[in-house]
Amino acid sequence: MISFSLVVGFAGAIFSVLAFPSPSPQLSRRVLHESRHDVPTGWTLHKRADPDATLPLSIALVQSNLHNLDDYLLDVADPESPNYGKLWTPEMVAETFRPSKESVDVVHSWLSTDGVHPNRIQLSDNGAFVRVNVSVTEAERLLGTEYYVYEHSDGTIRYGCQHGYHLPEHVSRHVDFVTPTLHFGTFTASYIQPGRSALSKRSSHASTGAKHRASLKETFKAIGTKASSGVGCDQEVTLDCIRQLYSFDYNIVAGSKNTVGVMELGQENYNGNDLDVFFKSYAPDQVGDRPKLVSVDGGSENSGQTNEDLTGESNLDFMLLMGLLGKKQPVSLYQIGSDGFFDELFAGFDRQYCQDIGETSDSSCGNVAKSNVISISYGSGESGPSYYLQRTCNEMGKLALAGITFVYASGDDGVSAFTDQCLSANGTVVSSGDGGNRFFPDFPGTCPYLTAVGATEIKPGASTSDPERAPAGYGSGGGFSNVFPRPSWQARAVNAYLSKYAPSYGMDVYNRSGRGYPDVAANGANIVIVADGQPGTTGGTSASAPIFAAMITAVNDARIAAGKSPVGWINPALYSSTFANIFNDITDGNNPGCGTQGFAASPGWDPVTGLGTVNFPRMLSRFMALP
Ligand SMILES: *[C@@H]1O[C@H](CO)[C@@H](O)[C@H](O)[C@H]1NC(C)=O
Ligand SMILES: *[C@@H]1O[C@H](CO)[C@@H](O)[C@H](O)[C@H]1NC(C)=O
Ligand SMILES: *[C@@H]1O[C@H](CO)[C@@H](O)[C@H](O)[C@H]1NC(C)=O
Repeated sequence: MISFSLVVGFAGAIFSVLAFPSPSPQLSRRVLHESRHDVPTGWTLHKRADPDATLPLSIALVQSNLHNLDDYLLDVADPESPNYGKLWTPEMVAETFRPSKESVDVVHSWLSTDGVHPNRIQLSDNGAFVRVNVSVTEAERLLGTEYYVYEHSDGTIRYGCQHGYHLPEHVSRHVDFVTPTLHFGTFTASYIQPGRSALSKRSSHASTGAKHRASLKETFKAIGTKASSGVGCDQEVTLDCIRQLYSFDYNIVAGSKNTVGVMELGQENYNGNDLDVFFKSYAPDQVGDRPKLVSVDGGSENSGQTNEDLTGESNLDFMLLMGLLGKKQPVSLYQIGSDGFFDELFAGFDRQYCQDIGETSDSSCGNVAKSNVISISYGSGESGPSYYLQRTCNEMGKLALAGITFVYASGDDGVSAFTDQCLSANGTVVSSGDGGNRFFPDFPGTCPYLTAVGATEIKPGASTSDPERAPAGYGSGGGFSNVFPRPSWQARAVNAYLSKYAPSYGMDVYNRSGRGYPDVAANGANIVIVADGQPGTTGGTSASAPIFAAMITAVNDARIAAGKSPVGWINPALYSSTFANIFNDITDGNNPGCGTQGFAASPGWDPVTGLGTVNFPRMLSRFMALP
């Protein structure tokens, strides 16, 4: 083992030639590190790469202790744990998962042995990855691969390799992934144009193939000029209807010490006038209140936006969250720049992750203030390189360790991730008519470190004291992950469903060993909002997420007022026996998709409405009983 001195954590450290003795030959054989079978959707192979083109090679090192993430999380989030609520500081998180010095040494030693002069090699902040600019010829030699130029239908050009790339066996263990190689669009710059710095992330983001979805399925139905036509909660769900449904009538006492935010993407903006028209009817003392803008990756506010397609999601989120929590709870708006996606938010929270996804220059990189609860109503399908899905999910886990509760809308297309987009036998995304017989789970909905919220509705003619059902107008997103195995904390609930109520589809239609989602449910149909000055109703799990986020924020308020920590990752608690009777079980309805009736809401947990809707006072008392 060659040793050399190196200051880890020093920004852009250049390895000193002197500190590095001449290397001995490495004899380790090469192994396939990552592979891919087809060119990602939307891309075509254009030509062989120019051997002299420069590639900004970035070698992401494996994080230390990642295999312990679940144990660390359960230690602070399992209600049985003596350390419940003892959240980690961001510094503890960064320190614990920082790649080891051994990983840095091994990669450095490999590169220099293979002919890369040490003064060309840089180590990023926190020692998370090693960077070196290489020619295509050098990259092909180092990685045992061939480079090509790919072109996207939108004109974007990327350099990448075709089938896979290789690393020496002893190096492979220390490397998460190398870019640019196979991951189009997920990570940044694929080549350096002469005289220019590396391509920014913007041009690459359109190319993930993953669609951005705001879960707002029910089209807006105007309800006349008055804000409420006075009909029942089965037809128009107002803030009062929601309060009645879940006995959620809470008076905020620690608002200045507590935080909650909603993520919105790109052009999707709330309209300030719409908020005021809504507040005037349902929360008169909040007229004039606005969320506090937190710009992420250049996201900007346009509170004069009037296009209903662009105001619908954001209007709904803030009318519900602000309206339910009242004037005393400040609410943040995490507005992501126009080409970004939810991973930009984590990049804003965590500088190391930001660099891993190639966002090194953005001022929001690692500087975005966190909130105790974050509501997200945008998603995508669980597809693409599983390393990316895992990396993004682990990032949520690390943030959860420091106390963030991610509340996520489970999707509005039942067992498909978008309208009739399903998976074929070989895992490609196709419509059900074209051989898409496998259900297509939602991402990040399948990540175990967030709380996925499905939707319910009040049955026609019923009142808020009657049991709700799964929405009849659209399929509340749910199912089983193909990437994340079923966590121990939900095994009892999910196994009970699978053994008693699972439909008789073939074993290949959905993955019985995967993480089941959603976790909980909340109303998501006939919700009264205001769009372009006009009151009306809308629906989707987009409503369910902010409703549940409001309730968890109220729990945090009470805990903070009592000198306790925010709840952070709540899933192990929700599924524990102590919390069993906080739920209103939903046993009616289903979530069709992919040419099937999907799953049926059933007694206990089910992949339509999770554990059910919550009775707020009971949930509050359980969380207050915890340390
Ligand atoms: C690679 O080249 C770019 C553009 O010239 C430069 O900004 C960057 O610092 C270089 N990276 C390394 C590791 O030398
Ligand atoms: C995967 O399956 C789909 C649908 O059956 C088919 O169109 C496609 O060609 C297949 N792709 C591969 C790489 O086998
Ligand atoms: C099913 O899920 C497990 C994770 O629980 C995964 O390892 C496996 O590859 C999945 N199977 C398919 C066919 O996707």
